Amino acid sequence: MTAPQPLISLQSVSRTYRADGVAVTAVRNVSFDIERGEIVAVMGPSGSGKSTLMNMIGLLDLPSEGALYLEGADVADLSEDHRSSLRARSIGFVFQSYNLLARHNAIENVALPLVYCGISRKERLARAEQSLESVGMVHRAHHFPRQLSGGEQQRVAIARALIASPLIVLADEPTGALDSRTGAEILALFAALNRTGQTIVMITHDPGIATQCRRTIRLHDGALVADETLAPIPPERSAAP
Ligand SMILES: Nc1ncnc2c1ncn2[C@@H]1O[C@H](COP(=O)(O)OP(=O)(O)OP(=O)(O)O)[C@@H](O)[C@H]1O
Ligand SMILES: [Mg+2]
Repeated sequence: MTAPQPLISLQSVSRTYRADGVAVTAVRNVSFDIERGEIVAVMGPSGSGKSTLMNMIGLLDLPSEGALYLEGADVADLSEDHRSSLRARSIGFVFQSYNLLARHNAIENVALPLVYCGISRKERLARAEQSLESVGMVHRAHHFPRQLSGGEQQRVAIARALIASPLIVLADEPTGALDSRTGAEILALFAALNRTGQTIVMITHDPGIATQCRRTIRLHDGALVADETLAPIPPERSAAP
């Protein structure tokens, strides 16, 4: 029997951007694994390579050097089309700026990723309603983004990220545009999703948010400088009232 593969494995990954004859190595020689069911915070100063790393994990971009494996498969071996369809089925993205379509209401925004999966409109809307339910937003299904608060828009964006039951949710500064109380509510929602087994990787500048993730990866100038996992909570303590 073969050992189970990590969900994601990065092996000596680097990413160099070349523009106008200038090369910028945004991620350099980074290696780590992410297992199913983890919730990981990615921290580091502005320009340290966090979004570049996230784009590679999200199959939007490929390493210039090294290899990235998703469920044991080297993503560089896949055709562009295969990578796109794998991304649509496996990755849910959440951004600081929500990225909802202004002309579509909440339920249509949530249903959108399923348009590319060959599912009927009726079924798409039924699944979108379930997804809105899971983030506590079903009562705003027919509101347009401009009629929603920032925290509500982010909940809708999370429902959209979840609709295709992704292997992993990637969130780039999901609380960055929110006041601290609303940010804490969004974090609690991610924590609740993680307790149901959802794997989540979240970029954050907020140390308070990072400490609530079990694991924190830190980047500096593109290099991984720390990868810390909190000790598991002993069962007798976690069971105490
Ligand atoms: N498309 C690109 N072309 C050229 N250089 C880029 C590109 N994207 C990012 N970079 C450079 O790569 C470095 C890392 O950028 P990245 O966006 O990954 O940082 P970040 O950690 O996400 O920063 P922030 O916290 O400000 O979002 C930066 O120096 C940036 O200017
Ligand atoms: Mg960034």
